[in-house]
Amino acid sequence: MMRILLIIFVTCSWIMYQGTYAVVASNPMQPRTKCEFYNQSMCENPNDPNCKYVEECEPQEDGKRSHCFVLWSENEKGVINVSLKGCFLDNEDCYDKSDCVAKGPKLEKHIFCCCEGNMCNQNFKWLLSPTESPPMSSPMPAIPPDSLTILEVAVIIAVFFMLFFILIVSYVWYRKTKVFNELPTSDPSPLPPPSPYLDLRPIQLVEIKAKGRFGVVWKAQFKTEEIAVKVFPVQDKQSWVTEQEIFKLPNMNHPNILHYIGVEKHGDNLHSEFWLLTAYHERGSLCDFLKAHTLTWPQLSKIASTMARGLMHLHEAIPGKTPGEPMKPTVAHRDFKSKNVLLKSDLTACIADFGLAIIFEAGKACGDTHGQVGTRRYMAPEVLEGAINFNPDAFLRIDMYACGLVLWELVSRCTAQEGPIPEYRLPFEEEVGQHPTLEDMQESVVQKKIRPTIQDHWRHHPGLVGMCDTMEECWDHDAEARLSASCVMERAIQLSKFQPNSISWRIENDKNMTQLKEISM
Ligand code: ADE
Repeated sequence: MMRILLIIFVTCSWIMYQGTYAVVASNPMQPRTKCEFYNQSMCENPNDPNCKYVEECEPQEDGKRSHCFVLWSENEKGVINVSLKGCFLDNEDCYDKSDCVAKGPKLEKHIFCCCEGNMCNQNFKWLLSPTESPPMSSPMPAIPPDSLTILEVAVIIAVFFMLFFILIVSYVWYRKTKVFNELPTSDPSPLPPPSPYLDLRPIQLVEIKAKGRFGVVWKAQFKTEEIAVKVFPVQDKQSWVTEQEIFKLPNMNHPNILHYIGVEKHGDNLHSEFWLLTAYHERGSLCDFLKAHTLTWPQLSKIASTMARGLMHLHEAIPGKTPGEPMKPTVAHRDFKSKNVLLKSDLTACIADFGLAIIFEAGKACGDTHGQVGTRRYMAPEVLEGAINFNPDAFLRIDMYACGLVLWELVSRCTAQEGPIPEYRLPFEEEVGQHPTLEDMQESVVQKKIRPTIQDHWRHHPGLVGMCDTMEECWDHDAEARLSASCVMERAIQLSKFQPNSISWRIENDKNMTQLKEISM
């Protein structure tokens, strides 16, 4: 065992010595120590004079010295077998030793000595006890071939593998801690915080709030503020790129569009993560909210109107306010659904998740030509058929179809309807279940032209009846007949004014609906 440790120690020191070549700047003025070099494993015939040469030791850091060493062994008959000779790292045991002399008890076969001074390792000896006198070596003794046993070689290899493994594990661990502690892009300070305590770190990932098609959304703490961090794995980098492109468009700061804070890239080429930092909304998505809550009519109309306002803003091309100010282009969402609508604390809706969105710059062709994207359940008939027209209006109408389904989800959970409120169900859940295939959706939506069921009693409420008409006009099979986001917003605002139980509500409703229909034409 001692012998193995000695071999490992000498080999590691020698490797470390070689490693210092790279990090210590060489000083050409500093005289270099010369040592005799010999490596048995690189030498077929140990008596070959070419096997032995002079090694110039690399200069060491200030105050450090270079030494020479010999590692040899001796069998029972006293035959000496040199394994390694060469330069050795600074070591106090070698200071001021002009001769390479090993002392102490016999460590099985392997013996090590080191010394200081040019070629001081040409000769070496081993001082044991006064009674035993090891032979002075010949410059290149006869070497029996079996100086390292297979077991010794295996142990050395195993130790190197272990060191390599520990190095990799430490690196991965370091990367993981670093990923969660790096400063946000928006923080100009180049220094990490002085304290390692968690609460002083700039961004702390607190808990997972949602898992989406692309990565995971975390609730996080940034200084004293709660923010949301969407973490994209490397394979979803394109969505991260698309999403930040959308957020960075001119005029995207809007109360009904999720507020963008910044982006960060973590890691290196081996392990990368892409972060998107946005406002955090404790209530989460509309879908999650509807699963756990019912809605009063005023709540429903607020959510519907603010959601439509967000969609209207996204769809709209808005010229710059001053000359030279860039315009906001038309953007189609392409994955509109209740999961991608977030609710602020006052139930104002804001639209999120622009990973599939597409920008329509005036006069430029849209980059994407693959039309069948989004969530199957919310796909318009023309998307399911694979028959979409690649012009901006066609993409906006696809969003409006999905908006109609979200309005149905809202109404289905509204307490203004008569009778008990059913459990939350996704659109088409009754017809195609929880995990429909594309074929299921095609059969229902395209061939049978089925839409989610509108209960008769929903139409008994002055506001809900308008919402039912509105959703039907959003999910029209004929894409060109669908309402625009601005029409839906106008209708939701008008409908919110209806007071349930008012005697004149139906007259008002009819009058208003006629007006609204005129606006939509
Ligand atoms: N789920 C997805 N995005 C979110 C956000 N920004 N805030 C809260 N929950 C979310």
